[in-house]
Amino acid sequence: MSILITNIKQLLQVHDHNVLILKGKEMKTLSILENAYLYIEHDTIIEYGDMKYCEGIEAETIVDATGKIVLPSWCDSHTHIVYAGNRTSEFVDRINGLSYAEIAERGGGILNSAKVLQETSEDDLYEQSINRLEELIKMGTGSFEIKTGYGLTVDAELKMLRVIKRIKQESLAKITPTLLAAHAIPEDFRDKKSEYIKLITEELIPKAAKLNIAHHIDVFCEDGYFDLDDTEAILKAGQKHKFIPKIHVNQFNILGGVALGVKYKALSVDHLEELNTDDVKALKGSDTMPVALPGCSFFLGIPYTPVRQLIDAGLPVAIATDYNPGSAPSGNMNFVVSAACVKLKMTPEEAINAATINGAYAMGISNMYGSITRGKKANVIITKPLNHYSEIPYAFAHNPVEQVVINGQLKDIKNPEENFRI
Ligand code: NIG
Ligand code: FE
Repeated sequence: MSILITNIKQLLQVHDHNVLILKGKEMKTLSILENAYLYIEHDTIIEYGDMKYCEGIEAETIVDATGKIVLPSWCDSHTHIVYAGNRTSEFVDRINGLSYAEIAERGGGILNSAKVLQETSEDDLYEQSINRLEELIKMGTGSFEIKTGYGLTVDAELKMLRVIKRIKQESLAKITPTLLAAHAIPEDFRDKKSEYIKLITEELIPKAAKLNIAHHIDVFCEDGYFDLDDTEAILKAGQKHKFIPKIHVNQFNILGGVALGVKYKALSVDHLEELNTDDVKALKGSDTMPVALPGCSFFLGIPYTPVRQLIDAGLPVAIATDYNPGSAPSGNMNFVVSAACVKLKMTPEEAINAATINGAYAMGISNMYGSITRGKKANVIITKPLNHYSEIPYAFAHNPVEQVVINGQLKDIKNPEENFRI
């Protein structure tokens, strides 16, 4: 299998050397080749360059990308895409004035989704989830982090992990699984949170480690959920089994989760709608990626992550969807890139860098994904005809994607016959 994409108007995120992350001022530059070709064999990027050097290259499939832009597929480093049902009634409650916290206090929120998920069969959960994921491949996402967290019992969390494993085996997309057992305190443990933490640290983490599916561990470090001590206990237990942290911090309140994440060598700290100078200081010099989730801010009407503070301090930033039924029921990375420009005041270059190479870094896969580099996996977007890449974020809520190459396979997103499973 070989694919040659010719006459590319702008080929984005091209790096001869394998970049793993872009920080601070580096994020302002998007590396581009104009009037370019891209050559793919099997699932790998083999060569690219100026069209004048394309002569003589033969391929089984040739795609003429005249007037179109080609870029690495979006790398969505924060999703809760495995869930059952939805929370439309809470959506209406919020419109009528209830807050996210008030809905949770009434037993809604994450507990509501957990109840539905526990009652859903493994096959049904798989189908609901992979269908959502396939819709997103058509919107240009090629790699997804997927969290557990709507199980809230050992059995249901393991069920979620098995579903994620099945998606990982059967989807053409790249999947990185994360164990998020500490997402909320289950009803049965309402007044005995420490027992639930014990269940996570002593039973669930060892069992999850044995399944060898997830390599990352997450905690919702927040008032009313898991405090700093709880979070540390879970990260410590995870560390014994080599789980690398990727944690929810600073969504509503600053508890010190950023510094704790850095202390435990977190791959990423996500949300950061609230941020102070200590957080910025803690991130400086660390290998931890701050991740902003503008879709969540949009949907809940909470502050947007002040990413300028981070980038201007020389730090990297990634952006992701947070796709989940409660705070961000959309996995559309095109919208996230637009929202990053409009609301986070990122330039199109910064937003595209944040959604590709830095997103890949926040999943621990930027050595193989997130840029157009020889030897990297062939996951790319071919857009509709566009004058300039800035039109991708500019035309918000629009799908700029016409075709994708996913794991080396060319797919026309309008063709209903296309299959996105291995
Ligand atoms: O990232 N903050 C915690 N978890 C999700 C929301 C989960 C839910 O409401 O179902 C988030 O926003
Ligand atoms: Fe989340």
